[in-house]
Amino acid sequence: MTNTEEEAYEFPHRHLLGLRDYSADDILHVLDQAENFLEILNRPIPKIPTLRDKTIVNLFYENSTRTRLSFEMAQKRMGADVVNFSSSASSVSKGESLKDTIRNIESMKIDMVVVRHPSPGAAHFISRCVDAAILNAGDGAHEHPTQALLDLFSIRQKTGRLKGLKIVIIGDITHSRVVRSNIIGMTRLGVEVTLCGPRTMMPLFVEELGVTISYDLEACLEWCDVAMALRIQLERQEGGLFPSQREYHERFGIKKRHLKEFPDFTIMHPGPINRGVELESEVADHPRSIILNQVTNGLAVRMAALYLLSGGMRS
Ligand code: NCD
Repeated sequence: MTNTEEEAYEFPHRHLLGLRDYSADDILHVLDQAENFLEILNRPIPKIPTLRDKTIVNLFYENSTRTRLSFEMAQKRMGADVVNFSSSASSVSKGESLKDTIRNIESMKIDMVVVRHPSPGAAHFISRCVDAAILNAGDGAHEHPTQALLDLFSIRQKTGRLKGLKIVIIGDITHSRVVRSNIIGMTRLGVEVTLCGPRTMMPLFVEELGVTISYDLEACLEWCDVAMALRIQLERQEGGLFPSQREYHERFGIKKRHLKEFPDFTIMHPGPINRGVELESEVADHPRSIILNQVTNGLAVRMAALYLLSGGMRS
């Protein structure tokens, strides 16, 4: 982490609002840093003092299990002072605006803010209101950059490469922030991306992002190296986009028989999984699934992002 080459590279970002702002080199730099943090996490005492002079607020306006725990654990592993805020237990329920909330929190002298919010653009908005470094932990159906970074990291860890790899992303493309960040990251790194899902969940003109569309799951599973299933985002839909979860599973769920028919592809899912909808239960738990590795790697990737945005190593 301290060799001359890495010291020479100056990370050009103050925030992580979306992968749209990050070049292929920036993305690879985060992934390479995450390798170092994964090594630290495997030590008997997985703690370092890198952020001991930093105060970080986790501002969650939407439910979260993995992302929230992962950010908090990453911050604690690096010695930061951590404050958690959830909108349901705050003055938001008394009508306080996002701008007022964040300005008040900033008055308490914070250095970084991790924010999840149901409105697309919320992280950008906050970055214009305060001086702290902002990390987007998911803004509506817009972006979820640390999820895409941990997905890229996990794919590279499993297959040893990214360039030229064939990945199919299956499911509710329209409502997924995970897919949006992944399309940006994957296409920048030379991955071939196919999107597969019901026509009612496929955004218009999405091919313009450099991806291919297919409505044939089995053709995709035959073609791909990696299949990433997405959760059906019922909370973001107005309803009626597919007849039933059973029918969705019939056409777009990955089933045990697919593992036999197509012996090569690796299985991913960002969680939370609807077992029996996106994936048959045995598929989620199969040795070819790297779903739990994604969670472990998420910690290392978030440590890397926090480290880089805090201005680098101080001790
Ligand atoms: C995703 C999210 O919240 O966008 N989950 C996650 O962060 N692990 C995906 C989802 O909710 O389906």
